[in-house]
Amino acid sequence: MKKYVRPLLYGLLALLVLAQLYRPTRNLSNDQTSHVTTKYPVPAEVEAILKPACYDCHSNLTAYPWYAEIQPVASWLAGHVDEGKRKLNFSTLTKRSIAVQNHKFEEIIEMVKEGEMPLNSYTWTHGDARLSEQQRQTLVDWAQANMDSLSANYPADSLVMKRK
Ligand code: HEC
Repeated sequence: MKKYVRPLLYGLLALLVLAQLYRPTRNLSNDQTSHVTTKYPVPAEVEAILKPACYDCHSNLTAYPWYAEIQPVASWLAGHVDEGKRKLNFSTLTKRSIAVQNHKFEEIIEMVKEGEMPLNSYTWTHGDARLSEQQRQTLVDWAQANMDSLSANYPADSLVMKRK
């Protein structure tokens, strides 16, 4: 071993140990006051897809796996949850404007059709989030039905996102 290798390894080990002291805030508020189900019908077969495949990153309640305790994985996962929730939060969806709600359903259709959601890395450890073609179609149809009901019940211009 070269002389500097051992101190370097110890240094890295110390960093890894220190990193464990940093605990990202957990997404456990479970505030569901404006959950998607308060306004839209969510049939059991849709909930059976959303819950295992989407809610961990897109709601106010994440079911954390044991390895979420360990850094640097903890920070990596926390980043996904933060960013996921910022883009789409099923727990707060119905307090957003009608245009935003409409747009979120549109994005869900896009992401699910293209196979971009759920995040690929998530499905390595969450087998029940690997969606079949039929499950994808169920989600797409559900989001489309919600868009249809919005356009039947609200004036067209209230469904358009205003550009700033
Ligand atoms: C492991 C965490 C994770 C899971 C699980 C997950 N997402 Fe995401 N989602 C993200 C992140 C992070 C982003 C933002 C980055 C991006 O767009 O790739 C995102 C973005 C999105 C967007 C885009 C919103 C926008 O404003 O652009 C939609 C729609 C979406 N997800 C829907 C879903 C649906 C539907 C599911 C379940 C089938 C799902 N996601 C599962 C983490 C996740």
